[in-house]
Amino acid sequence: MAGSVSGDGAAEDSDAGPPGPDGWPLVGNTLSFLRDPVAFYERCGSYDSDVVSYSVAGADGYMLTRPEDIQRVLVDEADDYRRAQVIQDSLGELAEGGLFLAEGEKWRRERTALQPAFYRDRIETYAEMMIRYARARADAWTAGETVTATDEMRTLTLEILAKTLLDVDIRGQESDIGEAADAITDHFDAGSVSALLPLWVPTPANRRAKRALARFEETIEEMVAARRAGDDDPGDLLSILLDVEFEDGSTLSEQDVRDHLFTFLVAGHETTALTLSYALFLLANHPDQQARLHGELDDVLGDDPPTAAALFEMDYLGNVVDEALRLYPPAYTIFREPTRDVTVRGYDIPAGATLSMPQYIVHRDERWYDKPDAFRPDRWREGREARPDYAYYPFGGGPRHCIGMRFARMEAQLVLASLAGRFAFEPGTEPPLDLSMQVTLQPETDIEVRLAER
Ligand code: HEM
Repeated sequence: MAGSVSGDGAAEDSDAGPPGPDGWPLVGNTLSFLRDPVAFYERCGSYDSDVVSYSVAGADGYMLTRPEDIQRVLVDEADDYRRAQVIQDSLGELAEGGLFLAEGEKWRRERTALQPAFYRDRIETYAEMMIRYARARADAWTAGETVTATDEMRTLTLEILAKTLLDVDIRGQESDIGEAADAITDHFDAGSVSALLPLWVPTPANRRAKRALARFEETIEEMVAARRAGDDDPGDLLSILLDVEFEDGSTLSEQDVRDHLFTFLVAGHETTALTLSYALFLLANHPDQQARLHGELDDVLGDDPPTAAALFEMDYLGNVVDEALRLYPPAYTIFREPTRDVTVRGYDIPAGATLSMPQYIVHRDERWYDKPDAFRPDRWREGREARPDYAYYPFGGGPRHCIGMRFARMEAQLVLASLAGRFAFEPGTEPPLDLSMQVTLQPETDIEVRLAER
């Protein structure tokens, strides 16, 4: 018997199945998805239904857009859902043993073991370093020049992650870590066929990805060997990975250590870099909101650099980051598959079907957001707009919510405060922003901002 996910159980027309875009026999909606994934998602989101069906790459998919249903899947009935096969198929060959893909008991014990690296106290010790790195980047900028925010932020967040999690300073170096991350992004460009092919298929992007991964692996091996050989214990993520001992006395295998590091570096740097790039783009194109932010920075910090403690007094800064994550959620959808037959809003969904719960659509739903396409950080002031919890979930939810959420929010706020403390931003790239759905939600072309004196 099917379990029920639906709040009200009433299907609009359950015999006919959920509405959705017509597809071609055999290939379903794959071609229109590959041509323009953003338009495809928007089209699915435009149906007057909270469940929409589609078929991409041979998999039956259901898009869920009702916050209550998303909460049931991610939180209340999380045990009945697992990472969707589409994700296992595409990411499995990259980091099967990492936290993102692990399931069951392996996931539970490793998530518990790694959690201390992300406790509030630990994260706050990273603050000073995040600010130092951000200010060093700003030191290299001059008023009047135009900077490519997407490149600058990608480099900065990778430097910060390498230093905080692995205690390596990769500033100013051609880094194997950065190249591996870039190659993976290319491999998964959803606009290319390569996104649907496994890594062993010798497309040019795949060959490049494999070469970059091999170099990355060597770097990781050297780093692990050096740490094991030395007496140094900075108490970072790498120390935790190497010291972990489970109840049965077992430790992590070399392969698991590598998979965890790879997962953290990939999951942690591009997402935060995009958040910052979108925030800079939004501020540059909204002078009034930027003036509010500058006012807050001046009131709270004066000429001093930001601190973790000062973030508690800078609500507007937090609201700018939250609003950037609403409009441009780097993780633009979450996939799950039910392990049993379920019913959502009266529609039967078989075990093993792919559920897509797109932040990109839900975050812009006018049922929950007044003028959803507008950049209005003030909407996050307490009590301004009432909405269900899962109308906003840039970091997912439930047991598998983003382990790096606190780290990412703090980093985004501290970096933004450090940069906006020095400069005013003027539009280089102007709206509307063309977007592309890859592993993350990417701007179609680089985001540029012009720097001005404050
Ligand atoms: C703005 C930045 C970030 C965003 C938007 C983001 C978003 C997400 C989302 C939506 C998930 C849940 C995926 C799902 O349930 O299927 C997730 C999981 C995860 N994130 Fe993040 N993330 C960010 C930053 C980070 C950082 C900085 C790290 C690490 C340093 C990180 C590491 C992870 C890991 C390891 C998981 C898998 C957790 C698990 O399954 O137990 N993320 N992230």
